[in-house]
Amino acid sequence: MHMRVPFNIPYLTGKEEEYILAALKSRAHCGNNEFSKRCIAFMKKKYGFSEVFLNTSCSTAMEMGAMLAGVGPGDEVILPSYTFSSTANAVLRQGARPVFCEIEPDTMNIDVAKINALITKKTKMIIPVDYAGIPCDIDPIMEIAHRHNLIVMVDAAQSFHSFYKGKPAAAIPDLAAFSFHETKNVTCGEGGALVVNKPEWIERAHFLQEKGTDRKLVLDGVKNKYQWVDIGSSFLLSDILAAMLLAQIEEVENMVQERAKLTFAYYTLLEPYEKAGRITIPHPPAHTEVNHHAFFVIFDIKENRQRFLALLREKEISAYIGYVPLHSSTMGLRLGYKPEDLPLTEDIGSRIVRLPFYTDLPKNGMDYCITEMKNVLSTLYEH
Ligand SMILES: Cc1ncc(COP(=O)(O)O)c(C=O)c1O
Repeated sequence: MHMRVPFNIPYLTGKEEEYILAALKSRAHCGNNEFSKRCIAFMKKKYGFSEVFLNTSCSTAMEMGAMLAGVGPGDEVILPSYTFSSTANAVLRQGARPVFCEIEPDTMNIDVAKINALITKKTKMIIPVDYAGIPCDIDPIMEIAHRHNLIVMVDAAQSFHSFYKGKPAAAIPDLAAFSFHETKNVTCGEGGALVVNKPEWIERAHFLQEKGTDRKLVLDGVKNKYQWVDIGSSFLLSDILAAMLLAQIEEVENMVQERAKLTFAYYTLLEPYEKAGRITIPHPPAHTEVNHHAFFVIFDIKENRQRFLALLREKEISAYIGYVPLHSSTMGLRLGYKPEDLPLTEDIGSRIVRLPFYTDLPKNGMDYCITEMKNVLSTLYEH
């Protein structure tokens, strides 16, 4: 049987319509209304975050986080080069310089052993990324940060509901930013959240979120007139989108369970090729529990990546080549980086593929996908 398997299809839990309609009828559609409050309460209770600020995206959540951390002109911020543009934009928008670090191939996350060498007197913050939902190695990163008085904000765009040593991963750093874009496990189309785990930063975070005003003090009955107190922006998710988000996060456990089936099927298919030295697949450390956001394959040579993609395309299965490393993209070169500055990232970036991954796939399309990938891999490696 022939099928078409896209790279991603956003999942619907079935509760979205009811919640969105209720939000519409409430006649209270701006941010931090009923559904936003329910999302925030859900996340704080389930994951133990100090505070959560629903945002229009992970990109804006990271911009708010960089403002909150006091990143400014002359500062340096260490981040992996293998990430999305938004991680670096949050740094540049504050007038600071992104300093790119290598990754390690088992997880595609920042190589913690290489952070120390990048720290200078100007370093202000580290932004590790939880690639494919695999938590970065946050304990040693926090140790480095404490030693050098640095702030840690995790780009947790892909890792909502991932765990590190039994704890929700985003509860550990000073700040973490989630994405609820339609490509993510849990989505409201476009959306994000900034987790703030430093209680002393929470009041100011409210001011930044509300366009730099102390409106929160009026809402809390502390003042009767609000005013401009800081530099902020409109870092708020509409309550209509929060209604969709609530319908999704309430079902997060079921979604992750369903997605785990796909991870298992990919491992079963691909492990023999890894053992034969043809490919590398993800190896999340034993102390992590992943949310099954994505699955990547690193091919032995880039020509095999191209052949794999082309043969899958013939079967109408969409895989995707992942990021162009930031240091060697147009903007990275403009900042003065050269491709050879991060040879490992550059090399792996040219051999990696992300496989189709979405919550509905195990029920509809997974068997076709696995069968066709098996055929493609045997064409590549057994003929
Ligand atoms: C690692 C990473 N950071 C940031 C983003 C940006 O997320 P958003 O679209 O919610 O701004 C993404 C989105 O794909 C991402 O994968």
